[in-house]
Amino acid sequence: MLKQLEELHLEALAKLNRVSELKELESWRIRYLGKKSKLTQILRSLASLPLEERKKVGAQANEVKKALESSFTEKERHLEETTLISFLERQGVDVTLPGRPISIGRLHPTTRILEEICDIFIRMGFQVFEGPDVEWDYYNFEALNIPQWHPARDMFATLWIDADMGKGARLLRTHTSPMQIRLMERKRPPIRAIMPGRVYRYEATDATHESMLYQVEGLAINKNITLADLKGTLFEFCHCFFGQERRIRFRCDYFPFVEPGVEVAIECSACHGAGCRLCSYSGWLEILGAGMVHPDVLKRGNIDPEVYTGFAFGMGVERIAMLRYSIDDIRLFYSNDSRFLEQF
Ligand code: PHE
Repeated sequence: MLKQLEELHLEALAKLNRVSELKELESWRIRYLGKKSKLTQILRSLASLPLEERKKVGAQANEVKKALESSFTEKERHLEETTLISFLERQGVDVTLPGRPISIGRLHPTTRILEEICDIFIRMGFQVFEGPDVEWDYYNFEALNIPQWHPARDMFATLWIDADMGKGARLLRTHTSPMQIRLMERKRPPIRAIMPGRVYRYEATDATHESMLYQVEGLAINKNITLADLKGTLFEFCHCFFGQERRIRFRCDYFPFVEPGVEVAIECSACHGAGCRLCSYSGWLEILGAGMVHPDVLKRGNIDPEVYTGFAFGMGVERIAMLRYSIDDIRLFYSNDSRFLEQF
């Protein structure tokens, strides 16, 4: 009987080798592993054998069964695969072509820089607030000491929503400074806040101008806040963001809503102060405007300028991103060219 089992095993394997279709494989299974197969018969007849033989034949028969079953599964997998491939090939699909790489999404360079800027100020204890892109003339100009007749309105090429341009007109905010007033109306000192957001300018675009950009506004109000606090905060920010070695320039500037007003520039990253195209041959790049909050502005926010003082600053995010990544054209940010975006 042992010999019979061995022959049966060899025969089944030889037949299996010649099977080339799933249908044939099924008849093979019925013939060699089915209920009426020789193997099953042998296994059933075990009971009638003498003990010694039963042990030997039983062990052998089970082994043959296991071996045939695993050969069957392997063959089945192989046939399924080749059937699928030949099906696809008939459809004109070349299964040997390498797959197309799946590109991984990433954060926009502006988002990355914005997060980095906010993180630095959050570590210094600033809270983050956001406000509307569509703003009232009052918050964007009037409350910031820029009445309708003021020449400083020319600094901001405005996109108007309402045609009459009167006092109650709406516009797309030209800077994030209106958030200073909105925050003062809502919160009592001590205030230490940053307000990131989009701003809009009605301007022809070129390498350094875009009609939409991001700013981060900062505001700190408390008793005894001085210009030294402003300088310390901004120097700390610049050192964190650009590194300890980078030189910083701090000098007077004019904005109607601060007194005194200052401007911060950092040493040009391309020429290290020698002068080049990027910095218009000045060696410096201006990154933000700032100053001590004007007493009249504090009053409009219902804060007593006799008791409290404060500082404010506003920085351009793309400007800073351009310095960090040596980008020489601001229009690249929002032209949605994936060749540009994929570099970050
Ligand atoms: N809002 C000013 C600008 O857009 C920057 C600024 C903010 C200046 C706060 C002083 C204080 O140019």
